[in-house]
Amino acid sequence: MDEQKKTLCLSADREDDIVAAGRLLKNGGLVAIPTETVYGLAANALNGRAAAAIFAAKGRPMDNPLIVHISNLEQWGPLVTEIPPRAMELARQFWPGPLTIILPKSDLIPDEVSAGQDTVAVRFPSHPVARAVIDAAGVPLAAPSANLSGSPSPTEAAHVMADLNGRIDAVLDGGPCIVGVESTVLTLAREVPRLLRPGGVTPEQLRQVLGQVEIDPAVLNPLGEGEKVLSPGMKYKHYSPKANVILLQGSWQQYRDFVNQKAGPGVFALCYDGESDFLQVPTVSYGGRQNAGEQARHLFDALRQLDKAGAKVIYARCPEPQGVGLAVYNRLIRAAGFEVIQLD
Ligand code: TXA
Ligand code: MG
Repeated sequence: MDEQKKTLCLSADREDDIVAAGRLLKNGGLVAIPTETVYGLAANALNGRAAAAIFAAKGRPMDNPLIVHISNLEQWGPLVTEIPPRAMELARQFWPGPLTIILPKSDLIPDEVSAGQDTVAVRFPSHPVARAVIDAAGVPLAAPSANLSGSPSPTEAAHVMADLNGRIDAVLDGGPCIVGVESTVLTLAREVPRLLRPGGVTPEQLRQVLGQVEIDPAVLNPLGEGEKVLSPGMKYKHYSPKANVILLQGSWQQYRDFVNQKAGPGVFALCYDGESDFLQVPTVSYGGRQNAGEQARHLFDALRQLDKAGAKVIYARCPEPQGVGLAVYNRLIRAAGFEVIQLD
């Protein structure tokens, strides 16, 4: 987007503003909207030019496909070639909610949305405002996270404005997001279902419905040079503040001693609640040690706070990769560019 736009600040508390957001979207505009996971940068998913504008506003690589958001199950069928029984069963269990399901796409999906894939990712969000906006627009909405490509995803309207003010038509403020990390992405376009991105719906929950679920190697490991990836989003450095993030794996005592030894200008700690009193560097905490849900909710805001505070190096406590913690670990290890120091 070349010329600067005036970005409207709309409020989800006002019925008129939801109608206005719907109208902007119907007419090909870009509106950031709240969902239960993170804020999404929405556009009409059936309009290739509107979807293309999302890539320009975010600086998103053109080969990274978008998730299409629906507000009722009837909208799903026309977007895909077929809804197999196991997909319907997942929808029954987890929709509306933080699960994205990939299936072979129909001709309704513009190439700009699928970005060269022959599949489409669909999600039915649980956030009442997201659903009201989809209803008001009268079309499914393509929406990636509403941040500049590469930076931490936005969990508040202020985060969206910090990244995209002047680049989009409007942001609809619906308060902070409750999940805090993006949806679980699962592909059913292969024989064995495969998790491409961990999120609010855990592998354990998916296995209860599907039996076998593979975890894509890119969830936990860096890609080798030239390696092919099923989910293009996984190959980019992501969620990163400007500071250099380093994950420290080990006990609390080892973490404390290591960080205190490194104390100096620009050195910060991303720790758990209750730990800051024992650290000799400025800290931001991202939740209780045993509370993965809380860590997920606060992680992206914590990374943005650290940037604002002028952090140059961030030593982060390494989360336990179980349950929702797998999503927290997946985001933090990308923010760190896979830099982990083993303290034991
Ligand atoms: O929670 C969420 O999913 C948020 C909110 C706004 O709904 N959206 C979101 O979108 O996180 P985005 O674009 O930031 O992440 C979408 C991820 C990317 O990693 C992308 O590569 C992958 O899903 N993806 C989308 N369509 C795909 C497809 N057809 N095949 C494989 N991966 C796909
Ligand atoms: Mg994103």
